[in-house]
Amino acid sequence: MALPRRRHQPHKRARFLIPTISAVSAVLVLLFFCFSFLVPSPTDIDHFHHRRHYSSMNDGDGDGVGVGNGVPVFRVPTSGGVYDRDIWRSKNAQFYYGCSNASSKFAKAEDVTRPNRYLAIATSGGLNQQRTGITDAVVAARILNATLIVPILDKKSFWKDNSNFSEIFNVDWFISYLAKDVEIIKVLPHRRGRVWTPYTMRVPRKCNDKCYTNRVLPVLLKKRAVMLTKFDYRLANKLEMELQKLRCRVNYHALKFTDPILELGAKLVQRMRMNTKHYIALHLRFEPDMLAFSGCYYGGGDKERRELGKIRRRWKTLHISNPDKGRRQGRCPLTPEEVGLMLRALGYGKDTHIYVASGEVYGGEETLAPLKALFPNFYSKDTISSKQELEPFSAFSSRMAALDFIVCDESDVFVTNNNGNMAKILAGRRYAFIYINTKHLVELVLSSH
Ligand SMILES: *[C@@H]1O[C@H](CO)[C@@H](O)[C@H](O)[C@H]1NC(C)=O
Ligand SMILES: *[C@@H]1O[C@H](CO)[C@@H](O)[C@H](O)[C@H]1NC(C)=O
Ligand SMILES: *[C@@H]1O[C@H](CO)[C@@H](O)[C@H](O)[C@H]1NC(C)=O
Repeated sequence: MALPRRRHQPHKRARFLIPTISAVSAVLVLLFFCFSFLVPSPTDIDHFHHRRHYSSMNDGDGDGVGVGNGVPVFRVPTSGGVYDRDIWRSKNAQFYYGCSNASSKFAKAEDVTRPNRYLAIATSGGLNQQRTGITDAVVAARILNATLIVPILDKKSFWKDNSNFSEIFNVDWFISYLAKDVEIIKVLPHRRGRVWTPYTMRVPRKCNDKCYTNRVLPVLLKKRAVMLTKFDYRLANKLEMELQKLRCRVNYHALKFTDPILELGAKLVQRMRMNTKHYIALHLRFEPDMLAFSGCYYGGGDKERRELGKIRRRWKTLHISNPDKGRRQGRCPLTPEEVGLMLRALGYGKDTHIYVASGEVYGGEETLAPLKALFPNFYSKDTISSKQELEPFSAFSSRMAALDFIVCDESDVFVTNNNGNMAKILAGRRYAFIYINTKHLVELVLSSH
């Protein structure tokens, strides 16, 4: 999906807000996009227009990007990417405004928080998954009329990061911003002069407010301090509006990165804008793990089958019937090449600057080559910062992810090939979505190879 950023509004309040998981969205521009290349005048994406079809993007005599055996497998279309309209903003953006403020009926925290009810949580997953957990924890504490202890971050996830909450997020801001909604304290008080260890339990996935009062409240009343572990997606998507608004206040206002992260993030954004007015941020997930888990086949022959097959054995229950079919049905992550062609077709030309946030890309430079050929102004945090600047962050995956988050968030257009946590959170701040018909796109790319 491609998400144009609403630029007109000030940073803090001007977000159109949807909760991280459920989508309370004012306008959902669902565009089933008929794919075309070499189309000289892309039409306005704010409207539903049909496009002409071209079955091949190799008609032009573009530069070939040769990979292996001297056979060019990818040719850069010479045309496409013509600006005849403003592809950097949405006409209707000015009509949208943030709406996460509580109504006057929403009781103040001091009036609902009961004494001796302490809720602690331990998050799970990477930075953005943890962020959704933190957001839900605040709402869960509110449902239980409990005092929340500053969440404990996951240090053992796949991404292994030892940072605690206050090293990623501005903890004092978090506490004070939410003071009217939920009482939050940094650590559990001592009990009878001793360190107090909360009772640990888990709640089911997508537990709603009734589920919290039925399952957690009785334990909380008895033990007085409860720690909910592996706290991810533990709160229902659907909640009453005031609680959804609280979710938005947490995610989009209360969770602010620490100053060192914000400072370097701002520098990176400034560097992206040094040579260009607008830029696209691409969150590209194309790691070997992810591809293995997706069960998709990308045409890499026996080598790919062997390599991804080896990783697949990690998941005993993973059942892959027909990897080729998945891709043809548009159910696989788009390749860097496919993302590049999609952007070209949307009207972004070769001179567009693109910031790529990605982990290890399967196939490395070879896989990225077509995208780089389409968009030679290709950047990442490693290319626009020095080793010294990154040094305080590079050993901490969440801090590195936070830098990417900032550059993506500040971009004029955000594009992703996945529908993960980061994409969802960033999408919640933007007003227009375009879903691309990936089935169509993959068919075109396959038929042209
Ligand atoms: C929300 O509340 C803040 C702080 O009280 C205020 O500055 C802002 O204008 C409000 N936003 C809206 C849309 O009412
Ligand atoms: C929380 O407080 C409100 C307001 O006093 C009350 O209506 C609600 O039942 C309480 N919920 C719990 C779980 O204590
Ligand atoms: C978080 O880490 C910092 C630095 O390592 C440390 O000073 C602080 O006490 C830690 N806070 C918690 C709550 O563990």
